[in-house]
Amino acid sequence: MTLPTLLASKLARPEVVEMVPYQSARRLFSNANSPDASRQKIWLNANEASGPGIYQSKGECLNRYPDFQPENLLSAYSQYCGLDKKNILATRGADEGIELIIRTFCRAYQDSILICPPTYGMYAISAENHGASIIEVPLVDGDGEQNTKTLNIAALKNQVGKAKVVFLCSPGNPVGNLLPQAQIKQVLELYKNSAIVVVDEAYIEFCAEQSVVSWLAQYPNLVVLRTLSKAFALAGLRCGFTLASREIITLLAKVIAPYPISAPVAELASKALTPSGLEQVSVRVQETQILRNKLSQWLKKQQWCQQIFNSDANFILFRTTLKNEIFNALKAQGILIRDQSKQQQLDNCLRISIGSKRELELVKQILLQQFN
Ligand SMILES: Cc1ncc(COP(=O)(O)O)c(C=O)c1O
Repeated sequence: MTLPTLLASKLARPEVVEMVPYQSARRLFSNANSPDASRQKIWLNANEASGPGIYQSKGECLNRYPDFQPENLLSAYSQYCGLDKKNILATRGADEGIELIIRTFCRAYQDSILICPPTYGMYAISAENHGASIIEVPLVDGDGEQNTKTLNIAALKNQVGKAKVVFLCSPGNPVGNLLPQAQIKQVLELYKNSAIVVVDEAYIEFCAEQSVVSWLAQYPNLVVLRTLSKAFALAGLRCGFTLASREIITLLAKVIAPYPISAPVAELASKALTPSGLEQVSVRVQETQILRNKLSQWLKKQQWCQQIFNSDANFILFRTTLKNEIFNALKAQGILIRDQSKQQQLDNCLRISIGSKRELELVKQILLQQFN
């Protein structure tokens, strides 16, 4: 990927640009925790134990620090997303990517991020934690389509120059629909000299052909966030990826912890990215889409359901005047869904994840019994 004419360095906090990253033992010499490397070299540079502890199973090498960016994991994700390893940073979930971007580009109490609510809550939380202000440009109803939320381009135009980082979420959480690609392009163009535009693709596997990852070569201000927490069924692993120009990755790599990805995480995540792992993802995505569409059809028939938002993800947002009653009836049976009614434009809205067929059948059964 070509150099983005130093845009990233122009936008980043000056101290990050100037900083030399911590030279951890594993940045200086990598691969200590591969069993082969352990045999070939004598590792006395990181104050580790020389042999395994009692919890270490055969084939593992947990007495050593992992590589800063485990080679097996980066190669596997590189093959999956079609980018060079230099354009990838593995993180503890996409949430860590969000935090790193804000810490890299926003000066505390001076700079702002821009979000388009209703949207994923962690952009604002990470900004608040860091002392960055938040500019809000709410989503609007799609063209003649009130069940789809899209960007307000005119309002976004008015904010050019005021934010360092713009967060777009596509498919959006909690509404669920993809943003039109033409709109994402407009935002990238509008902010091409003044802000990093983050496209959060946490749910993109549910509509993979709509990814904007191939635009990275064209837009040096674009950053794409990915995760293994959704379609890969590995939320407990805490593994995500930030995809960006080499310059942006180099800056983020100065801010991230020295050993962000543990060796077992790298190992498991790499397995999930093998052809058989990817085959499982594709089956899961298809099953989820079928269940989602069926649930959506069912919701449409319920009198208490006033609105069902279009979803390209693994959840459905719906509006109901019985919001509290439904939430509580399910909770009483040990079924937890998410109340989104505190988000702007979403009063009386609930979000339900697409669980298993059995789980969704149970939800329907309870709701039919109590609200028909
Ligand atoms: C839009 C969006 N981005 C990022 C995340 C965080 O993902 P991770 O589990 O990888 O931190 C979530 C989690 O729900 C999400 O909905």
